[in-house]
Amino acid sequence: MKVFDKYYQKEWAERLDILATEMLSKDDGETLKKMARTPEIGDTMIENYVTDFTLPEGLALNYVVNEKEYVIPMVVEEPSVIAASCNAAGIVKKAGGFHAEVTRRQMIGQVIMENVRDVVSLSGSLQSHADQLVKVANAAHPSLQKRGGGARDVRVRALDNDLVSLDLIVDTQEAMGANMMNTMLEAVATYIRQQFDQDVLMSILSNYATQCLVTATCRIPVGLLTKRQIKGDQAAAKIVAASRVAQLDPYRAVTHNKGVMNGVDAVVIATGNDWRAIEGAAHAYASRDGHYRGLSMWEVVDNELCGQITLPMPVGTVGGSIKIVPLVKINHQLLRVDDARELMTVIAAVGLGQNLAALYALVTEGIQRGHMRLQLKSLARSVGATDAEIPAVVARMTAQNTRDSAGAQAALKWVRAHA
Ligand code: MEV
Repeated sequence: MKVFDKYYQKEWAERLDILATEMLSKDDGETLKKMARTPEIGDTMIENYVTDFTLPEGLALNYVVNEKEYVIPMVVEEPSVIAASCNAAGIVKKAGGFHAEVTRRQMIGQVIMENVRDVVSLSGSLQSHADQLVKVANAAHPSLQKRGGGARDVRVRALDNDLVSLDLIVDTQEAMGANMMNTMLEAVATYIRQQFDQDVLMSILSNYATQCLVTATCRIPVGLLTKRQIKGDQAAAKIVAASRVAQLDPYRAVTHNKGVMNGVDAVVIATGNDWRAIEGAAHAYASRDGHYRGLSMWEVVDNELCGQITLPMPVGTVGGSIKIVPLVKINHQLLRVDDARELMTVIAAVGLGQNLAALYALVTEGIQRGHMRLQLKSLARSVGATDAEIPAVVARMTAQNTRDSAGAQAALKWVRAHA
């Protein structure tokens, strides 16, 4: 569209004017302006910046991980996620909390070679130059080595009879490290082109972070799961059955894992990390044996419900937007993790807690009961109820047992007629 010619070169205010005159109303233009909380930051973070899109942030409480209690900021738009998380964490807290461990924290990057004449010979040759390739990578980013990190190893994989991937394994210290990785990988790519006379197709970080794993576990005496008429041992047995279904059926596994990621993503976003990377890695990891499965597993051992989850978790405590966005800085202050490894443990515990909350609700009273209160509020707001009217609209909808937009409209009409 003509009006967007060189849009990226315009000043922020000019970009808004174009929108307000060409596509929106003046009022909408004002709204975009008002919503832009930190235009000076946004304009340096992304291109064609117009405004800030906000999501609600709340706190997950009750999480005890490795004997430390956390206040966990979660950014999420879905009702009940935080309430459910707090409830599950509260049950686990009574049982001593979560235990979590980082098995490894290294990132993987790829240099992909094409038109390979002899895959076996190139692979052998690259492998025998492993030390040199690591040196080349480290020379491209010397400050990382000074901080105790750096390239550690290479791995060579033949992808087909003309394609080879050189995987570079790097300790990125506190960062997720996409930029440093890519700088190192491009240096290695140049070296391979020159020294091996080999075509390189591309070089880029891999988001399949199989060398950056964290495992969270918990053990809950089944008695703690007693809820109204449902005995704890019955609830535990049903949670185990639900976990088994997620191992067998991809249709259920995706939903099971979506519930895990409700918690994981919310903390990943709040801490300024790249949630697309975490999502991608989690789902690939869920299908690592060729069959998509639930990421968590539950079993009953000695009258305790035992849960476990392992996730790739390439998050950082520095880099990207982390030191730039004021709210992200505040969130790190709330969370009080000392380093990226600790952050990994907290996020994995939230994933497991969120999953416990979902399964516990699903196999006992169903998910809708917990969802309803906030959903009714959102519905009331969506049909135009003011803050003052919302409680009465929600009460009317509850009394009428209506849960949809038409019901909300009728309730609002009734409330206004009886005001
Ligand atoms: C909803 O956002 C998440 C759940 O569907 C997860 C699950 O089914 O395990 C409740």
